[in-house]
Amino acid sequence: MEMIVIEGGRKLSGRVRIGGAKNAALPVLAGALLTGGKVQLEAVPTLDDVTTMLEVLVHLGAAVETESGGALTLTTAELVNSEAPYELVRRMRASFLVMGPLLARQGVARIALPGGCAIGARPIDLHLKGFSAMGAEVVAGYGYVEARAERLRGAEIYLDFPSVGATENLMMAATLAEGNTVIENAAREPEIVDLATFLNALGARVRGAGTDTIRIEGVPELQGGRHRIIPDRIEAGTYLMAAGAAGGEVTIENVVCRHLEPVVAKAREAGLEIQVESGTGEGGNETLRVCSDGCPRAADIITLPYPGFPTDLQPPWMALMAVSSGRAVITENVFEDRFRHVEELRRLGAKVRVQGRMAEVAGVPQLCGARVKATDLRGGAALVVAGLAAGGVTEIGYVHHLDRGYANLEENLRLLGAAVGRQDVPLPEADTA
Ligand code: EPZ
Repeated sequence: MEMIVIEGGRKLSGRVRIGGAKNAALPVLAGALLTGGKVQLEAVPTLDDVTTMLEVLVHLGAAVETESGGALTLTTAELVNSEAPYELVRRMRASFLVMGPLLARQGVARIALPGGCAIGARPIDLHLKGFSAMGAEVVAGYGYVEARAERLRGAEIYLDFPSVGATENLMMAATLAEGNTVIENAAREPEIVDLATFLNALGARVRGAGTDTIRIEGVPELQGGRHRIIPDRIEAGTYLMAAGAAGGEVTIENVVCRHLEPVVAKAREAGLEIQVESGTGEGGNETLRVCSDGCPRAADIITLPYPGFPTDLQPPWMALMAVSSGRAVITENVFEDRFRHVEELRRLGAKVRVQGRMAEVAGVPQLCGARVKATDLRGGAALVVAGLAAGGVTEIGYVHHLDRGYANLEENLRLLGAAVGRQDVPLPEADTA
């Protein structure tokens, strides 16, 4: 089995450059289906989830040309399919984001139901309720959901929960609807703003992205355009927490500090020294310099929709608190089952008590390396953070989870002085007894 092997207990030092945001790139790629024109994207991260989304787009009729350095061009002159098959949606539930664009552009969409995953049931009821409000006939059954509409019409939509995916799907659908759409209680994540910026570059009329009320004026069609994906705030936060847990001095380049406000605030509360420097890279993004002695103070977090503390950094934060000098309470408000990584952290010596949506972490002076397995993408990130801080060797299995969301992970960590590699480790013979 392929494993990431870390010889922990070393301080980190050096520079890491953050790539384009996975959770901005995926909806933007889906949005490219809305136009027959040429879409030119920059800073698209090289991740398995992006590869899967490109497979879905090609299946639907897009022509994709990938260039160097994260640039790619997509042209969907005509859609040749209206179905996203189970084998692709099963691999990545964000494939469901093609539903809005397909419905808007060709009036029909048939998508395999994405199903749940390691962090919860992940329902799509808010997406479907919104499409119905826009006049689509939605039928769900036998593992698929199908929606049809001659032409979507603008509607007033209230989201019971500020769902990121529902906001994105409905915003994309509304760009080509007849009339105006208002999405109330919309998600406010930076990735929503980035999608709106992209859609407007294609000629859409989206206003209010980043607030809880987004207004979209439907237009007859969209043109081609170009867009650069924003940096990945979750990737940046992961490296910040790695520096906090292992100790040392790390420079994190190409970040938008505004997107990391809740994370930087909590990291400072935990005793990490963080300086913000104006960026020198493209897009004028900023640089974070993180210093830590590897023994953070305990600091409670409560995950909430943006601008609250991001749920995707809850697992890495738990790993950081596992080596803190006190007790921290972690409350997970966004997903109902996002503590699968606790069992694996315990194998490294972490002291964690879980009660429903709350986990209490009692910091220990030293974690000890062990063989563990990634339960999901960010749970795997937590094990990397813990493994860097742990004494001895940590072997992390199921690394495919990490490859979905972290590009060049081992390479970046080696540049920071970590002893990390990827090895094919033979699994122990199954017990014959
Ligand atoms: C996006 O997932 C992200 N994925 C997730 O990142 C992230 O954790 C999540 O937003 C929250 O920030 C992508 O952008 C590709 P939601 P999404 O719809 O859109 C409930 C990662 O690690 N809900 O905001 O699926 C749902 O059950 C991934 O990069 C409904 O009840 O998140 C959950 O409890 C993990 N009905 C809550 O809303 C719906 O119709 C948040 O889900 C939709 C959602």
